[in-house]
Amino acid sequence: MLKNKLNYNMNLDIHILAKPADVATAICKRITSIANISNTLHIAISGGSTPALLFTQLAYKTYANINWKNVHFYWVDERCVSPINDESNYKMAKAKLFSIISIPSKNIHRIKGENEANEEALRYSNEIAQQLPIYNGLPQFDIILLGLGDDGHTASIFPNQITLLTDTRIAVVATHPKTAQKRISLTGSIINNAKYVAFMVMGAEKANIVNQIITLNNTEYPAAHIRPSYGMLEWFLDQEAAKML
Ligand code: 6PG
Repeated sequence: MLKNKLNYNMNLDIHILAKPADVATAICKRITSIANISNTLHIAISGGSTPALLFTQLAYKTYANINWKNVHFYWVDERCVSPINDESNYKMAKAKLFSIISIPSKNIHRIKGENEANEEALRYSNEIAQQLPIYNGLPQFDIILLGLGDDGHTASIFPNQITLLTDTRIAVVATHPKTAQKRISLTGSIINNAKYVAFMVMGAEKANIVNQIITLNNTEYPAAHIRPSYGMLEWFLDQEAAKML
């Protein structure tokens, strides 16, 4: 690790690593350590491009000697497209991880982007409610992995839909503000109820938004509101994404 920064006014644990591969390794090791002390691990993963490196390391690196039959994968969000569409978060995770590891198909809780959006949000919410333990009245994930958009969104909670942060439902329909693409997303209530949340952010194009959130705590951005009520939050950044801190 290049350096840890504890942002005391926000008691954030921030890990800055030299390269993207080092970021993926650090998170991979964190997931492995949590998985190895859990009977059943419920983990929600994000989409976009950033997690690809992590999925590859989870699939191939020996330190990720995880017993996959005890791990259940969910998505933080999914685009309302078919699972074979290049936009699909599931498609990327399947290519990089699920097609390589040996994991029971029942442990993969895909958001069915091909379904009608409102019906799917309800179906997925019910699946989560049935599978996960309840804590403080809401399903509790063991791990939630988040990305960060350069507009400060996380999951599919965009700045113009900031009420989704406190929506008490489990999963809802969101709309991409530029493309109007429908998405299914976990709400901020569920994310902040998790035991452990990690942001994985890489690249110079994210440096400004990372600074807005970590240093300035600019609450116009949804990601600034991710503060697990009972759990732990960590940020894993490469040097490029952290260069304004
Ligand atoms: C999605 C993601 C989204 C993503 C950020 C960062 O479905 O797009 O869940 O929240 O994490 O947009 O995306 P990149 O990793 O591609 O920068």
